[in-house]
Amino acid sequence: MSQRSLVLLKPDAVRRGLIGEIIRRIEAKAGWTITALELRSLDRGTLETHYAEHAGKPFYEPLLEFMVSGPAVVMIVEGERVIEGLRALAGPTDPVAAAPGSIRGDFGTIVRENLIHASDSAESAERELKIFFPSHA
Ligand code: PPS
Repeated sequence: MSQRSLVLLKPDAVRRGLIGEIIRRIEAKAGWTITALELRSLDRGTLETHYAEHAGKPFYEPLLEFMVSGPAVVMIVEGERVIEGLRALAGPTDPVAAAPGSIRGDFGTIVRENLIHASDSAESAERELKIFFPSHA
């Protein structure tokens, strides 16, 4: 089943020069296509909308501060089972708990600086695509 996901390569991935490595892993998956891609400085309003369900949680403010600390790569990835597949490719939220071979498992240590966001469901993806790529939604 072909799906779409909104993917963010977070400011730590850009700062550390890991964009190419992460995109390589996404492109290597059979049948997946990057259909939009942009290096973009995210503004607080956009992020407040994106992370609205987490407002008030202890990590919310530090997460927003981190996400505006430098440019991010904003992408749409389309293809077979891409929602589930990207979550597996990324690994769990805490990089130390992520298996080697996953993006977070290979490159992360700090929970906040976990390199990548990928939509967690088809419903989230449609909501997030409207926020980041209104012309593609
Ligand atoms: S929750 O509460 O279980 O829904 O949280 P979770 O799905 O694991 O994470 C939601 C997003 O918040 C980020 N996150 C954090 N950022 C900074 N510090 C801490 N401690 C932290 N914990 C979770 C997490 O990476 C998720 O953001 P995205 O952009 O979706 O990866």
